[in-house]
This record gives sequence, C-alpha cells and structure tokens, in this order.
Amino acid sequence: MTEALSTAAPLGTMTRICRLDEIPRLGARVVRSARHGDIAVFRTATDGVFALHDKCPHKGGPLSQGIVHGNKVTCPLHNWNIELQTGNAMAPDQGCTRGFGARVIDGDVFLQA
Ligand code: FES
Repeated sequence: MTEALSTAAPLGTMTRICRLDEIPRLGARVVRSARHGDIAVFRTATDGVFALHDKCPHKGGPLSQGIVHGNKVTCPLHNWNIELQTGNAMAPDQGCTRGFGARVIDGDVFLQA
C-alpha cells in the first residue's frame, strides 16, 4: 500500500503514517514523499518499525517488496541483505541506502522525513 507524505510539513517533522497493524508483519508500506521519493516503512516480527529509501543500493530494487527477517530485509531482485537500522548492505556486498526516523506511539506509526 502507498501513502502520500505532505510536502507542507517542515523538514524533519514527525508525520503520522498509519496504524502499526496496517503494515504487514515482515513486510512494508510505501510512503510517497515529494522531497525524498518513495520511503519503505518496514515492520519486523517483534513489531520494530524502520524506514529506508525504497531503493536497493545495488541496482535500485524495491526494498519494500523484500522479505523482512530479523532486522534485515532481503532485496527481491538479487537477494542482497540490507540492515534496517542503518541501511547498510551486509558483507560481502557493499553499499548503503538512506534511512529515516520511524517510531510507534500508542499504536500509530510516525515517520520523520
Ligand atoms: S537491486 Fe537489490 S540486490 Fe540487486
């Protein structure tokens, strides 16, 4: 599912995206940002929430369509593993995708972008 992020909010503002249970566990929801492009908001098995640019550092694959395992997501194109907390590719692969702040407050997911 895709959400649009308001461009009226000042840079760095926390914006409510959705309820936590509207993000599939071990999956992601895409937030469309005029400033940053598509941002994938991931939910882990333990309800951790992380946000990364929806673009793999390898060849730009859509990380939001990958499988979340632990605190990593596997890119659907060539199976690179990307750390959700840092956006870094796991060795031996190298590269990094941009991360954004995300948090859950009272069951609502907020994104800082
Ligand atoms: S584009 Fe993600 S692993 Fe190649």
